[in-house]
Amino acid sequence: MRMYDLIMKKRSGSTLNTEEINYMISEYTAGSIPDYQMSAMMMAIYFNGMTETETADLTMAMAHSGDMLDLSAIEGVKVDKHSTGGVGDKTSIALAPMVAACGVKIAKMSGRGLGHTGGTIDKLESFSGFSTGITSEHFINQVNEIGISIMGQTLDLAPADKKLYALRDVTATVDNMSLIASSIMSKKLASGADAIVLDVKTGSGAFMKKEEDAFALAKEMVELGKHAGRKMAAIVSDMDQPLGFAVGNALEVKEAIETLNGNGPSDFVELCMTLGTQMILAGGMAENAAQATAMLKDVIEDGTALDKLAAFMEAQGGDASAVYDTSLLPKASIIEEIASEKEGYVEKIICDEIGICSLILGGGRETKESEIDLAVGLVLHKKVGDYVKKGESLATIHANDLNKLAQAKERFLKAYSFSNKPVERNKFIKGILQ
Ligand code: URA
Repeated sequence: MRMYDLIMKKRSGSTLNTEEINYMISEYTAGSIPDYQMSAMMMAIYFNGMTETETADLTMAMAHSGDMLDLSAIEGVKVDKHSTGGVGDKTSIALAPMVAACGVKIAKMSGRGLGHTGGTIDKLESFSGFSTGITSEHFINQVNEIGISIMGQTLDLAPADKKLYALRDVTATVDNMSLIASSIMSKKLASGADAIVLDVKTGSGAFMKKEEDAFALAKEMVELGKHAGRKMAAIVSDMDQPLGFAVGNALEVKEAIETLNGNGPSDFVELCMTLGTQMILAGGMAENAAQATAMLKDVIEDGTALDKLAAFMEAQGGDASAVYDTSLLPKASIIEEIASEKEGYVEKIICDEIGICSLILGGGRETKESEIDLAVGLVLHKKVGDYVKKGESLATIHANDLNKLAQAKERFLKAYSFSNKPVERNKFIKGILQ
C-alpha cells in the first residue's frame, strides 16, 4: 500500500476501506508517513468528507494506536463524562462526587489544560497536597473502595490523535465534523469506560458556534461510541456566556463546592443535574430519569456528595478540610470590583474574552511549560439579561499583579455589550441524545 494512492483515492471522492485507514494511522503513528502526506490527506477529507464507516474505522484505528486503559479490575459500570470545553467549566469537580455518591464508578485519566483556564487536574490542585501521580494499583483500589479517582496521564492514550490533532491545528483542517468526532471519541474509547456521557457545547464560546452543528457532532459521537459497544448519551448545552459565575482555578473549585452545598448558580446546577441523571442511567443505578434526578438532589441535601469530594481528596493526599472551609483554598492578594461604564441590559458577553482575562491574570497556560496561578480569576455578577446601572459591579477580579489586573480589566469591559431593551436569555440545555 502507498500513501500516495490513498491520497489520490480520497481526493477523487472515493471511500477508504478499513485496511487502508488502519495502514494510514499505524504508519503515521510509527513515523513512516510524513506530515506533508498526512496534511494532504486531511485536506482531502476536509473537502470530500467521510462516510459513517470511514469515520468509525478512523476512530477505532486511532483508539488502538497506543495503550487502551483496562478498567476491568473495577467492579460495576464505569462511567466517563466529556465536555467539548468552555469558559468556567468546572463541571467534573461537582459532578464526579455527586454521581459517585449515587453509586456510579468514576475512574478518570485526565490531562492538564492549555489556554483559557486550567484543566480539571489543575483545578483540583487548588487543594494543597492533592496528587494525580498515583499508581494504577492505587487508582483501581481507590475506585473500588470509594467509587472515585482521577489519575494523571501516565499511559499513552491515542497517540495517533495527538499527532494528527497538532497537524490539523496548523493546516486549517480542525473543523470537520468526522475528524472532530473521531478525535474526541478515540481518546474516550481508549480511556476504558463502559459508558460515556458527552456535554457538547454550542455558542460563541464553543467549538460549534451553531446549534445544528453541535447536535450533528453529538449524534455522530453517540453513534461512534455505540458502534464500539459503549453505552452513550449526549447533551447539547449553551456556551454563549461563561458557565456559572466563577472563571479561574480555585474560584471555580469554590463554586463547585458551593454547588455541592446546594448553593450553585442556576445554569451550573441545571447542567450537573442533567449530566448526572444521564450518568446514573448509563451506570444502571436508576430505572428512570426522575429517580436519577431525585438521587442527585438527595446526595446534595444530605451532604454525601460533599463528603465524597472530601474522601476523594483525602485518598489522593489533598487537604480535605478545604472542602468544608473554602477560605483554605488559594487566595489572591488583590481583589477589586470592575464597575460598569455603561447602563442597560447585558446583551452579550464574549465568552472567549473572559477566558483570556483569566489567562492574562495567570490562571491559564500560554505554553505547556507555563506555571498556573491557582488563585486568580474573575467572579461575574452580571450575566446576559441582567440589568446593570452605571458604576455597578460587573465582576470581582482576583489578581496577584497590578499590571496584569489593569490589562485584564480593560479587556473584560470590552467583552460586555448592552441593550436598552430587555434581553431574552438563551435556553440552557438544548437537548439530550441517546
Ligand atoms: N477536541 C479534540 O479533542 N479534537 C478535535 O478535533 C477538536 C476538539
